[in-house]
Formats: sequence, structure tokens, C-alpha cells
Amino acid sequence: MVKTPWILMCPPRFYGIEYEINPWMNRRVKSDPDKAARQWQALHDALIGLGAAVELLEPVEGLPDLVFTANAGLVYRDLFLSSRFRYGERQGETPVFDRWFAEHGFRVEHTPDGMHFEGAGDALFCGETLFAGYRFRSDARTMSWVGDRLGVEVLPLELVDPRYYHLDTCFCPIAPNAAIYFPGAFDEYGRSVLQDRIWTLIEVSAEEAFSFSCNAVVVGRSVLLNRGAPKLARELERLGFAAVPLDLTEFIKAGGSAKCLTFRLDGEDAASWRTAA
Ligand code: ARG
Repeated sequence: MVKTPWILMCPPRFYGIEYEINPWMNRRVKSDPDKAARQWQALHDALIGLGAAVELLEPVEGLPDLVFTANAGLVYRDLFLSSRFRYGERQGETPVFDRWFAEHGFRVEHTPDGMHFEGAGDALFCGETLFAGYRFRSDARTMSWVGDRLGVEVLPLELVDPRYYHLDTCFCPIAPNAAIYFPGAFDEYGRSVLQDRIWTLIEVSAEEAFSFSCNAVVVGRSVLLNRGAPKLARELERLGFAAVPLDLTEFIKAGGSAKCLTFRLDGEDAASWRTAA
């Protein structure tokens, strides 16, 4: 029986570029609120069209990045491991996310003081293993702590390019043993770990990575991503996946795209704990 994918999104009512905490953000390049609303709605509707149940988090004025629900934390079964944001600009989101998860039946826990962690932006299951990006946002030592807490194997990967500051901007598991990645965002060791540990690893070119194509949402055999990655779309099709291109340019101004705008509450399709549950 196929379970309904369960996703959390937050409408972009108070979204905007109000500060600069990654190289994509520039306060002088404002987002167009109507266009952002339309683009967000198209992503939302595409997910509903694929059979997902989408929960809506109430937007909060003064928290423009709350739309990026991928950074809420990490879900493992009924445990919600809340993020500890690196920058003060986003720390106000934590109580909002914690309240939502507690009200929806999750056990809410935090990483120890001082251990930065940006949730599903940096920690992604592919099969049994948690692939964990660190340096710009999450700390390496937090990732070992997370592995111990969940009792899962963690493979820490250092991110080396500030434009790809979260793991989900340069790596996306699409099935328990398959993923797409942009090699230039990792060091030599990280690349060898990915190549050794993931059976089908699709390389994304620098140009297509730059259009945020690794920041994809996977629902069954559909991969929703920002428009502008024809080569990746062909590769995905060869593997039996359908690429669904969307316009998400307003969110790229903040350094986010399809994946960042969603949080998979029931575990990603590529996580074997979901498939096995
Ligand atoms: N402006 C946000 C930040 O810099 C964008 C977050 C994107 N989220 C993601 N999961 N990559 O924190």
C-alpha cells in the first residue's frame, strides 16, 4: 500500500530579502511578493497533484525565511530534532516550529547548547545512512551527536563552496540507493564517500547546480525542481523518474528552491526507515 506523503509548507506572506546570511541574498534585490506567492502556490499545487497531504504553517511577520521549512529540524519516526540556527536572523523560527511539531504529535528535542544544526537542510537520509553536511551552518560535531541520538550511521561531508552552504543545495537522495549531487560543492574525500556509498550517483554540472537543480523534492518517481536543468532531467528520465520543472526564481534570491520550501514529515522517500515502516 502506498502511504500518503505528508509535507509541511509555510505560505510566503511575510517572505522577503531582509538580511544577508548567504551569498545569494542581496537586500537591494527585493523579491516580488505576487510572483513569489504564485511560484509558491504552483509548487504547493504540484505536490497536491502528486497525492501529497500538505500542512500549512501560519507565517509570522519578521521571520521572512520561515517559508524554508526544510530547516525546521530533522524528523526520525515520531522524534523532531529541532534546528539550532547558526544566525540570529533565523533563531526566532525555532519556537514557531517547536510549537507546531509538539501540537502535531512529535516529541520535540534540541541539540545541546552551542551545537549548530539546520535540520533537513543539512541532514538527509539515503537508505539507512544519514548524509550530513557541515561547516557553513551545521557543525561537524553536531552531526556525530545526531547519529548517536538516533542510533544511525552518519557520514559527515564537509561543504567547501559558500554558495552551496546547505547539503540540500548540492545533494539530493532520490531513492534508498540513488542520489544526485554537484561534485564541486565537496572536497575530494566527500566525493569519494558519496561515490563509494551510493550505488547510482548522478553528477550535476556546475551550470545546472547553479540553477538550484539539486534542491529537489522527491515524491515517488517525480522530482520537482527549479527550471533550468535539461541535462539532469534527461538523466532522471533514463532512471525512470519524471523531472517536474517549476519557476522558483523568487526564492533563489534568498538562496532556496523547491526542497527548502518543503519539509517531509513522514520521512523522505529515499529513507529506508520510511519505506520499511
Ligand atoms: N535564506 C535562507 C538561509 O540562508 C535560505 C534557506 C534555504 N534552505 C535550505 N534548506 N537550503 O538560511
